[in-house]
Amino acid sequence: MKTALTTTFLCLAALAVAPAASAANAAAAEALAKKEGCLKCHAIDKKKEAKPLKEIAAKYRGKADGEAKVFHQITSGEKVKLEDGTEEEHKVIKTKDKAEINNLVAWILSLK
Ligand code: HEC
Repeated sequence: MKTALTTTFLCLAALAVAPAASAANAAAAEALAKKEGCLKCHAIDKKKEAKPLKEIAAKYRGKADGEAKVFHQITSGEKVKLEDGTEEEHKVIKTKDKAEINNLVAWILSLK
């Protein structure tokens, strides 16, 4: 009986913790996006040199490889086309802190 109760308690505790673990720290993510210059080309909800972050979120949210795609985009420096038609290598994020990058990715995908 005691173990059953303990198990129930542990499950409830895990449930309580889970959403917080997957949700982005929005303030930190937005500050990083600003610092890294993402927002110079991508606004949150309007088109600038590149598509708005909300459009990126709508495209990748819920896809199995969505997070990996966004992560790759900001760490690999592949060629992209700007709104004015010129091509350049996409910005590679400067921070090497994976947790920070993952938080940024999670935040982008959470935008609605
Ligand atoms: C010099 C301008 C510029 C900067 C700075 C920039 N991007 Fe981009 N980004 C682009 C362009 C251009 C594309 C491709 C076309 C589009 O999505 O509008 C793109 C594409 C992307 C995509 C893929 C969109 C898709 O539909 O597949 C993601 C994700 C992304 N950028 C995130 C970021 C993040 C995060 C940062 C900051 C680390 C950043 N970008 C900085 C210009 C920029």
